[in-house]
Amino acid sequence: MTPSKTSTKSKLHTRLFGYIHSSNDPVYLYTFENSNGSSVSVTNLGAAITSINIPDHQGNCEDITLGFDTPQDYLDHTAYFGATIGRFANRIQNGRFSLNGKSYQLNQNENRHCLHGGHSGFDTKLWQANIIQGQDGNDLLALSLESPDGDEGFPGQLNIKTLFSFDGTDLKIKYLATTNKTTIINLTNHCYFNLKGHRYGLATDHNLMIKASDYTPLNSDYTPLGEIRSVFDSPFNFNQTKPIRQDINAEHPQINLANGYDHNWVLNGYEDETLKHAARLSCPETLRTLDIYTDQPCIQFYSGNFIPAAPAGKGNIQYQPRSGICLEAQGFPDSPNNPNFPQSILRPEDTYTKHITYRFGVLGKNYT
Ligand code: GLA
Repeated sequence: MTPSKTSTKSKLHTRLFGYIHSSNDPVYLYTFENSNGSSVSVTNLGAAITSINIPDHQGNCEDITLGFDTPQDYLDHTAYFGATIGRFANRIQNGRFSLNGKSYQLNQNENRHCLHGGHSGFDTKLWQANIIQGQDGNDLLALSLESPDGDEGFPGQLNIKTLFSFDGTDLKIKYLATTNKTTIINLTNHCYFNLKGHRYGLATDHNLMIKASDYTPLNSDYTPLGEIRSVFDSPFNFNQTKPIRQDINAEHPQINLANGYDHNWVLNGYEDETLKHAARLSCPETLRTLDIYTDQPCIQFYSGNFIPAAPAGKGNIQYQPRSGICLEAQGFPDSPNNPNFPQSILRPEDTYTKHITYRFGVLGKNYT
């Protein structure tokens, strides 16, 4: 359960973001503006969060997520800034899996693997936007997508809806999906956070806490070994808040192979599938905090080790590796090839329903 708090009203404004070069399709930006001065923008290209402006301990707002100034930059860049990831977050080894005795070959967009949905994952699609009224009177943005049977090699026609809302402190994301054939699905959001502001250098001075006793170590090709391993007595222990930079260069085979953190943490108590507090990121300089609540079983903590230099980010800011960090609430990576992991299978009679809440605050004034 997320604790209760006082919320203020947010209004949603729509404007043109730009055009996709190859098709000349227009792309839109939907901005939630809150009476406390904070705002969040989402684009229908990739159902991506493009900016999050929130106050620090002195009330000064900064944009704390990495992004671009044009839609085309999102398509030309490979870091998935802010995007909705699907059909299947992270890597599927060799892009291959079997389901109900049938084998499937997916598009292989990263070496031999299928990463974040393939060549044209959900991050590259134009979603259909609708603005609706939420129960609390705040506007909700509903972005819908129809992914045809065989899209990137995945079975079943999938109908997906990603709902966004923002009330000044809580940025809520809800995923809904249905299929006409049994399929696999694992959706996440790929925001990069820098709580100082996206323009202010590295995010490795932030403190992080992840409520997880285990993680899933990697093969040298970044696919899971299949093992669920304890984090204790290793650089992967974030049960007590610690600076990200503390162990990021530790002499540890798993840190060496990923050039930092790019691993999946298994959240404590995930089996009950309720929305719960999973992680807290905080910035000692600005005192901004981010608490993540989810009903997903895992979080991928990626310390931005390979953020590409080009194109330049918003406001012509030159990002670099570790300018922002990702905390991607997700299902177990490559579960179709690891039968000992809990599976992410969707059947025609069911609706996939998952939630992620990003709650922003200031140290000393939090609700948790
Ligand atoms: C995930 C992966 C990383 C990387 C980023 C996007 O976090 O685990 O290896 O692909 O997405 O660049």
